[in-house]
Amino acid sequence: MSFLIDGLGRRMNYLRLSLTDRCDLRCRYCMADDMRFLPREQTLTRAEIRRVAGVMVAEGIGKIRLTGGEPLVRPDIISICEDLAALPGLNELVLSTNGRQLAAHACALKAAGVSRLNISLDSLKPERFHHITRHGVLAEVIDGIDAAVAQGFQRIRLNCVMMSGCNDDEIEDLLAFALARGIDICFIEEMPLGDVGRTRADTYLSSADIIARLNQRYTLLPMLNRDAQAGPARYLQAQGYPASRIGFISPHSNNFCASCNRLRLTAEGRLLLCLGHEHSLSLRDLMRAHPDDDQVLREALHTALAQKPARHEFAHDGEQLVRFMNVSGG
Ligand code: GTP
Ligand code: 5AD
Ligand code: SF4
Repeated sequence: MSFLIDGLGRRMNYLRLSLTDRCDLRCRYCMADDMRFLPREQTLTRAEIRRVAGVMVAEGIGKIRLTGGEPLVRPDIISICEDLAALPGLNELVLSTNGRQLAAHACALKAAGVSRLNISLDSLKPERFHHITRHGVLAEVIDGIDAAVAQGFQRIRLNCVMMSGCNDDEIEDLLAFALARGIDICFIEEMPLGDVGRTRADTYLSSADIIARLNQRYTLLPMLNRDAQAGPARYLQAQGYPASRIGFISPHSNNFCASCNRLRLTAEGRLLLCLGHEHSLSLRDLMRAHPDDDQVLREALHTALAQKPARHEFAHDGEQLVRFMNVSGG
């Protein structure tokens, strides 16, 4: 059995795999007005995804989260899920989606081996939802969420990027929506990836403020389950609602870098060692230069890992990264 250990002794067992930088929405916190996408030949093919993921799983990755952009815009999404779910050694295949095409895909995703879904939902007001996403139709996403609930995925979580003066009047309504369906919810502080044409600090809303608001209506209890505390989200529960976990991702006020277990692969096959740094290594170029030699990939992976930064340096009034979230895979 192999392990992926970085220069600080952290063990990497989780891969965030971006399948495309494209998306059928244009959320204002994620993309600029005039977003350009990669030419298709630059993104990894299904065969390349299977190959690189196979190498990484054999080296010690046990969980893969498929992200984008929007993973469901890839026509070969179900085949990719089937390929990955069949990799020996992979324990969990999970997916983050905007939910727009979920009503059509929920059943096939579950059958293909996806066990958990995270679904973006930043507003329950149709006009505001349309404004934030630039294209979105709220009813389609709610249908997608309900289709996923009906399929009985192991867990479903709503992701809400919270922005002061934009959707902070919906904190309680978003939580009530999740509690009513017995699913999880996660409130996310906006992160400074890419220039989206406004000052993100102006709309910064801290997780602590959200918790203070929710405490007025619910009794929030800590979760002691170690599994629930393994990623960037910190989870609480509302007394009387044992089915739902309430998460908070707070890159500005709290980060989990010291226990980071994550690697990222961008849609064009660049290995990113940290969400908050630009440094990357093209595994796609290596694969295309060495079509029959996986040892080159293994060696590159271990060498790169030694360079993984200790932490990200996000500050809510600090510098933006050039790279956009849809390119990074979140
Ligand atoms: P789990 O796999 O269950 O831990 O889910 P997740 O929260 O990592 O996944 P999701 O795709 O739903 O991402 C939710 C938010 O977490 C997005 O805004 C991501 O950019 C952010 N995120 C994911 N990984 C990291 C990380 O390593 N550091 C920080 N600061 N944020 C992250
Ligand atoms: N900051 C925080 N979260 C973001 N997401 C996209 N862009 C940002 C950003 N700048 C979220 C989406 C999705 C998740 C994968 O990443 O809302 O739920
Ligand atoms: Fe698309 Fe997700 Fe970015 Fe919104 S946040 S534009 S849904 S990739």
